[in-house]
Amino acid sequence: AVPASVDALLARMTLEEKAGQLQLNAAAWAGGVATALNPPGGASNFDGQLADAVAGKLTGVFNGNGAAMAQRMQAAVMKGSRLKIPLIFAADVIHGHRTIFPVPVAEAASFEPDLAMRTARAAAFEAAGAGIDWTFFPMVDIARDQRWGRTMEGAGEDVLLGKLFAAARVQGFQGKDLKANDAMMACVKHFAAYGAAESGLDYNVVDLSERTLREVYLPPYKAGFDAGAMSGMASFNEINGVPSHGNPWLLDKVLRDEWKFPGIVVGDYTGDEEMIAAGFAKDGKDAARIAILAGVDMSMQSNLYALHLPALVREGAVPQAVVDRSVRRVLAVKHMLGLFDDPFRRIDARREKSRSRTKVNLALSREAGRKAIVMLKNEGDVLPLAKDRKVAIIGPFASGQHDLNGPWVVYGDNANAVDLAAGVRAVVGAGNVSVTAGSGVEEPLAGGIEAAVAAANAADVVLLAIGENEGMSGEAQSRTSITVPAPQMELAEAVAKTGKPVVVVLKNGRGLALEGAVRDAPAILVTWFLGSESGHAIADVLFGTYSPAGRLPMSFPYESGQEPYHYDHKMTGRPQPEGPRQPYKAQWRTAPNAALYPFGHGLTYGKVSYAGLAVSPPTLGWNGKLEVSATVTNSGTRACEEVVQLYIRDRVASITRPVRELKAFRKVALAPGASERVAFTLTREQLQFLGLDLQPTVEPGTFDLWIAPSAQAEGVHTTFDLVR
Ligand code: IFM
Repeated sequence: AVPASVDALLARMTLEEKAGQLQLNAAAWAGGVATALNPPGGASNFDGQLADAVAGKLTGVFNGNGAAMAQRMQAAVMKGSRLKIPLIFAADVIHGHRTIFPVPVAEAASFEPDLAMRTARAAAFEAAGAGIDWTFFPMVDIARDQRWGRTMEGAGEDVLLGKLFAAARVQGFQGKDLKANDAMMACVKHFAAYGAAESGLDYNVVDLSERTLREVYLPPYKAGFDAGAMSGMASFNEINGVPSHGNPWLLDKVLRDEWKFPGIVVGDYTGDEEMIAAGFAKDGKDAARIAILAGVDMSMQSNLYALHLPALVREGAVPQAVVDRSVRRVLAVKHMLGLFDDPFRRIDARREKSRSRTKVNLALSREAGRKAIVMLKNEGDVLPLAKDRKVAIIGPFASGQHDLNGPWVVYGDNANAVDLAAGVRAVVGAGNVSVTAGSGVEEPLAGGIEAAVAAANAADVVLLAIGENEGMSGEAQSRTSITVPAPQMELAEAVAKTGKPVVVVLKNGRGLALEGAVRDAPAILVTWFLGSESGHAIADVLFGTYSPAGRLPMSFPYESGQEPYHYDHKMTGRPQPEGPRQPYKAQWRTAPNAALYPFGHGLTYGKVSYAGLAVSPPTLGWNGKLEVSATVTNSGTRACEEVVQLYIRDRVASITRPVRELKAFRKVALAPGASERVAFTLTREQLQFLGLDLQPTVEPGTFDLWIAPSAQAEGVHTTFDLVR
């Protein structure tokens, strides 16, 4: 409930002060930035921003530089402003603050939402300690097209995984009490369907049916809001011709009316102003009018609200009540964060220091790092490596304080992260390790290949550290071809020719199409961007201290041209049958109608088999429950963790259904020789889809059911009927 004090305050505010409460700005630090409020040549630096804040033109700032800055600004506002409304400090705390955790999609590979909750909690502990009240996270955009660079920031291609990680991250950041000095307000972004950008081009338009929007893209946002997130961010894209910043259907009808969201919606950077370039608004004033009427409560960076809302209200173009409603929401979240009780509650220079990169947080980063690693392939049990091997680490990511943290890190420093060479040296000793770059990331290195071949020849095993650098994924980093760049492929081919066993250690922020010597290497580890403890986490897996347990949160296609590719595609009327390929069936000329490594795939150091599928009772009654179980057995000699996945397919429905849909999963630890019976409960609700009228429906009939180690594996299979 919004306290009466909020309404009393609202009643005392001028129109200009109200507009100010709806205007955020990037913090003017490190030299200062010019803003529309403080144009170049004016007081566009920290002092100018401070003056704006004291004058009530700003509600807060984002991506500032720590407790000292926050202290100065908050103190000035509490002392000098007319109404003494505390500023709110926001930041992109995406995968850690000073301790950096794996990029979010890597963490999703753990298939352990609880891990994401714990890293979010730890990030909040550090960042709230540095005076930050609000994180612009979680990013919950489903990404089915790996050309899109922001795939690295979400939880991959699957709806269930997306929902579980969205909720876990919100709970982690917000904690049990939003007022606590280690809790931050979460922001579910980017609302909506930002990941569905046409051709994987960042910021591009989205054109999709309301059915796909509601069935695939919206559920993770809803899960985040249902978990209590008190803010959301509008997305840069348009949906079916309407930019999200100007979409009342999305922001008012769906978010507020249907989902009963009580918090605030912030625009994304200059997303409101961008409606001008998109051909949806005439000018800045028009854009401000459209955005506030659509339901964007706060403008992030354009300053259009501070500049235009008062006039728009005076002219009658925007009802006063609309502005009041947004101001009330903003004041309410400031109240929930405890800022009115104590504007300085999160600002403490000592806490900022003492909470930064603690042993506990670094240990958690290492745990998250190793749980994120996915072993795609391990022919001839090349891995784990014996500790007395001579190891040649070859590739642009072999060593060096770069590309360890990954994209979207505002405060962490690569210089503090453990590189691959350091991680390997810590296990086998410096004398047994050689390091050779061999190639640049996207350009050849003079003499690199010769040096790499010599290093490989002198070693027992090669770790080929190749892939994408930080600049190749993340915002605005769309790729047309999702392959390992050509100079690195040349390096891989040359190293493969030496005949030495090669373990590919991939660095990547998206699903890749693996080719040639990389695809054919005996062992492949997907190691993403793992953050502060990268090298140690990878070494834990390489040398068998930890049995890899990560699973792909997105499919790795055979070829880039298959994108957008997702495992839960439809059958079509002409699917390729089992056996030899047939003409005039759905197929690509050069690639199978499948993924090279599907969603859910990942090997362990155990040898796990699936058997004994049982469904009880044999049919699912309309209001009943189905107990589904299977036995997983580790017949190998090493302990492992298996991610047991339950998929279904609705064979015949009034709306065609995907070939498979993940409905549940469980991670189980299996000692060598151990078996475990893994049980799931299935109810009618899990079989729902949106009918012709877009309302949830379930139809009686036959369903396939698999308990399997990936979306493409057979595992154990049966069918059951749902009867009314
Ligand atoms: O939070 C981000 C968003 O994801 C992309 N645009 C800028 C925002 C603030 O940095």
